[in-house]
Amino acid sequence: MKKIAVFASGAGTNAAKIIEQFRHHPSIRVSLVVCNKPDAGVLTIAAAEHIPHLIIGKEKFYKGNGYADELLDMKIDMIVLAGFLWKIPSMLIKAFPGKIINIHPALLPKYGGKGMYGQYVHQAVIDNKEKQSGITIHYVDEQYDHGQTIFQATCPVFENDTPGSLAIRVQQLEHEHYPKVISELAG
Ligand code: GAR
Repeated sequence: MKKIAVFASGAGTNAAKIIEQFRHHPSIRVSLVVCNKPDAGVLTIAAAEHIPHLIIGKEKFYKGNGYADELLDMKIDMIVLAGFLWKIPSMLIKAFPGKIINIHPALLPKYGGKGMYGQYVHQAVIDNKEKQSGITIHYVDEQYDHGQTIFQATCPVFENDTPGSLAIRVQQLEHEHYPKVISELAG
């Protein structure tokens, strides 16, 4: 069984789709939800699905081993970031080489980096009068939203879009594609 750890700190809509995708999968399972916010919505989802969770602290994440030992002890094979906004420390990247992926709600390399998440991304896309936006799924390296791209999908940006209306279109792409891409990589 391939074991996935989903790192998420937000509402957890992507985590929910990923968990659903693998709930009855013969060889891939979401075995752990990792979160840095004790009140994050994703923890309610993990509890409802009977998936163990790990709440992590900043000090240990950056000054310790990035929880690599715990994740290796749990025999985690792959780390999937789904709305996890802390930069991944190099200790953890070295412990899981080529096994950590992220999703970003824009077409990287544009509109990525520290502080570029959620509505900030969509507002910047609209302010720059982009005609299209979309999603990027990429490997994680030591820089925010930077590693090698695995997959992109696009959607139109309309003249009357608000960050909220564009977010809905982008989120549909995330929910449609992220579980499938994970399945291909983990399978
Ligand atoms: C997603 O839109 C994801 O692309 C974004 O956080 C959201 C989490 O939503 N990630 C980033 O912006 C990373 N830079 P969710 O909690 O509903 O899955």
